[in-house]
Order: sequence, then structure tokens, then C-alpha cells
Amino acid sequence: MSDTDRHPFLSGLSKHRGAQPTCLVIFGASGDLAARKLLPALYNLAVDSLLPSDFYLIGFGRKPIPDAEFRNSSAADITKFSRREYRADIWKPISEHTFYQAGGYDEAAAYEGLKSKIAAAEKAAGRPLQLVFYVSTPPTVFEAILENLGKSGLAKRGLGTALESKVIIEKPFGKDLASAVQLNSVAARNFQEPQIYRIDHYLGKETVQDLLVQRFANPIFEPLWNNKHVDHVQITVAEELGVGSRGGYYDHSGATRDMLQNHTMQLLALTAMEQPQSLSAEHIRDEKVKLLKAVEELRLGPNGDAVRAQYAAGLSGGETVIGYHQEKDIPIHSSTETFCALRLAIDNKRWSGVPFYMRSGKRLARRVSEIAVQFKQPVSGLFAGDSRYDIAPNRLVIQIQPDEGVTLVMNSKVPGLEPRTQPVRLSFRYATTFGSNTPEAYERLILDAVVGDRTLFIRGDETEASWKLFTPLLQSWEADGRKGLESYASGSWGPSGADDLLAAQGHNWRNAGR
Ligand code: BG6
Repeated sequence: MSDTDRHPFLSGLSKHRGAQPTCLVIFGASGDLAARKLLPALYNLAVDSLLPSDFYLIGFGRKPIPDAEFRNSSAADITKFSRREYRADIWKPISEHTFYQAGGYDEAAAYEGLKSKIAAAEKAAGRPLQLVFYVSTPPTVFEAILENLGKSGLAKRGLGTALESKVIIEKPFGKDLASAVQLNSVAARNFQEPQIYRIDHYLGKETVQDLLVQRFANPIFEPLWNNKHVDHVQITVAEELGVGSRGGYYDHSGATRDMLQNHTMQLLALTAMEQPQSLSAEHIRDEKVKLLKAVEELRLGPNGDAVRAQYAAGLSGGETVIGYHQEKDIPIHSSTETFCALRLAIDNKRWSGVPFYMRSGKRLARRVSEIAVQFKQPVSGLFAGDSRYDIAPNRLVIQIQPDEGVTLVMNSKVPGLEPRTQPVRLSFRYATTFGSNTPEAYERLILDAVVGDRTLFIRGDETEASWKLFTPLLQSWEADGRKGLESYASGSWGPSGADDLLAAQGHNWRNAGR
């Protein structure tokens, strides 16, 4: 194992600076993700001189767009969505290397056109290029793209060499276990597993990567990180926005497929997994899979482990907003959930008996993603049974976004002659310690794929382990239609059923983000 494999975090920049000459092909180039995230990420990598010196970009999409127009619209997207100001002189070398291929995703001729464009890029570069395919289309055409990359020979380009082709596959990776298995088998028919990069952009967030450091570089936590000391864990991934213009996609997905099955489960895996043997991609992914497989089956039905709900009209950010059913492209009788809360149990020595609560939803009280580890309340002791002593359970809150940071709730004496105590917070904020110009998740992930680092991508068995847990639940909801579907006011923290889920074990949701 090379040193880079062993220490992917530490060897980051030097490794990135040695990236192979590359041609990145974006399928779905005129889509929303390319405009908002992928093109701005490429621009910011260019600002930091992190793209390979020979870098070519080919947009692939159904809409016929001349090269010049694609170059102009890319610059406009970057201007609108980049975290740093657009400077034409920085983008110019990439823009001059940018081309567009129009065609159907299942149309062989379009892939022949793509091959000619790649050949022209290689001629201009004067050397062969590594091909990185980014599949950011609607999931209905994922399989057609993978098959055609196989049939056209593009998937096998450079196999076994430093210029091996790679494919980045966006979420959703399947809609249940059967479709994920099917998609994995189509991917495996055309690519080898080390060429496949299944993306979960939460893994590209700095704070999510920092979870490994916080847990395993701070040995004070390890003796406490278990069922002897932890009372329960709450993972919240809350959004303030509604579905907006994405109703067409969202109504076929819902909160559970859109957020819980992937992003929230990744947070759970990193929080609860055992220490990996090393920081290599495979060792980390092995531990995540073990953890996901140890999650017990969900109990379904009323008083089970899951609650789902849809947002109704309400107040969000001080404005009156409409309910889910009034949103564009949402059928009036839709039973798609915009909120899901779960109670999970992990069947292993470390976590047996510790509930892990997770919730995610749109139109909630505020945008916040956090992991709160609540330690056991001391049952007796010097300060028990006296109302002057306000003793709270110790709690470690890792705030993923916004206001990234870590807070530890402790108890302290209130200054004065009266013997009083009060919970206080020790707080570390990324912005005050490190400044706020943090790279976006997609910058890190695109770069990692270009240099062949799979640590922050999902392995095939990982996605299947997660779908295995969620599929029976999703099927039972489908069979139930709107039966059991709750409602919550926009701007609230979700339905009352989510509170009952915790109350059943004597817990309550914390005021996340506070
Ligand atoms: C995406 C979901 O994966 O994540 C969106 O499809 C959601 O519905 C988004 O809004 C949230 O990402 P972030 O990085 O803003 O928390």
C-alpha cells in the first residue's frame, strides 16, 4: 500500500497536484446540478491551480447546443453560483478546452460523436487523456449511459494503467434494493469496481471528513463512545426550503430516499463505526459496511420505528409559504413524505441498547445538520436532589452545517455566594478558527475522482446494505398510501408523531442548531 493510500487526508494537495491529464465528460451538462455545483466546483479548482495542466471538458446532453453557447452559459453559471468571484482570465484556458456533444443517452451515434471530440482533445493536448465520466442526469438514463460507455469501448480506455477511465455516478443510486442491485450489476458489466465512484456529496463536506479526525485523533472520546456512557444519539438533517422547482423529481423520491437512505446513513456510519485499520478507502468503507449491516430491521406499522409526514402551509423565514400539495408538479393526492424520523438500534457490543434517532425534512424550522451525542445523566451524586443545582446531561454536538463546529455541554458553578450550577457550552467554530472560505463538497469530490481516491465515495455493497434496511419500510408506505401519513406546519420541527417516537423511550428532540 502506498503512502498516499494510507494517508489520503495528509497527502491531499501534493497528490492532487500530480493529477493525470484529464478529459471530464459531464452527462446532463445543461442540467441544474451542472449549473449550480459542478461548473462552479471546476472553476474554484482552477482558481486554486488544482486542475491538471491538460484539462478538457465535454458537456453531453440531449439539447443541441453549439460549443460557443455552452462556453458562454458555463461562464454565466459560474458567475451566478461560484463561491468566489468569476474572473474570465482564470476560466479562459478551460473555456478554450470546452466542447459540447448533443445526443440521446441511448444513441450509439452520439457516443461515436463523443469519441471524435475526445480524439480531437487528445490531438490538441498531444498526449492521451484520462477519461472521467460524470453521470449527473435523471436516474432513468443511468443504465443507458453505463451500457453505452461499455459498448463504445470508452469504459475500458486505459484499463490497468494510470489513465484508467472512471465513472462518477450521482444519486439516487436506485430507488430500492432490487433497483440498486440491478444498477450495480449494469455498472459492473461495463466498469470494474475501482473505476466506479458513487457520489454522496455529504462525504465531501469538510465537517463530515472531520468526523474521522474528531473520533480517532482524540483518544479522550473512545472510552466514552459506547452504551456504557452514551444515552442516545440524535442526527438531524433539516432544511428550511420546500421542494421549489424540483417537484417532478421529488415526488418520486421523498425525504427517505432523498436524504435518509444516503446522507443521513453516512453520518450514522461515520459516527458509530469501529476504528478502521487505516485511513485507506477500503478499510474505511469496510467499517462503514459492517456498521450498516449491524442496524436492526425497522419495526413497521403504527408505533413502529418510523414516522413520515408532509408539510402544510405555514410560516418560513417570516413569510407565509404554501403546503406541499400546492407546490408545482405535485399531484393533489400525493402520499410522498417530505419528513421522515426513525429510531434505529444497532446490534453490536458497542451500541446495543442505545437508540439512534434520525430525522430529515423540508420546510423545517431552520437549516441545520448536526449529530448530537447525549451522555448518560448521573443518577446520583453530589449534586442530585437539590433544586439549586441545574445539572444537564453532557452532550457533544457536531454541527455539520451551517455554522460548522463542535459544542460540548458541561455543568458549571454559577459565580456568586449562592451554591448554584448551570449547564454551559464549550464551543469551537470552524469560521473563527480557520476562516470561512471552505471548499464546497463537489470541489473535493471531483478532484478525488480525478486523482483516483475513492475514500469519500460509496462502495456497491454499502449502498445495498442501506437499501436493504429501507426497502421494507418504503414498500409498506407504498401499500398504505396516505394512511399513517402525518402533516406538519411549514416552519415547525415536524409532526407530533416524531416527538412520540422519542417520548416512548423517555427522550425528546433537542432544539437543533442551538
Ligand atoms: C440533495 C437532495 O442530495 O441534498 C436535496 O437531493 C437537498 O433535496 C440537498 O436539498 C441538501 O444538500 P445540502 O448540501 O444543502 O445539505
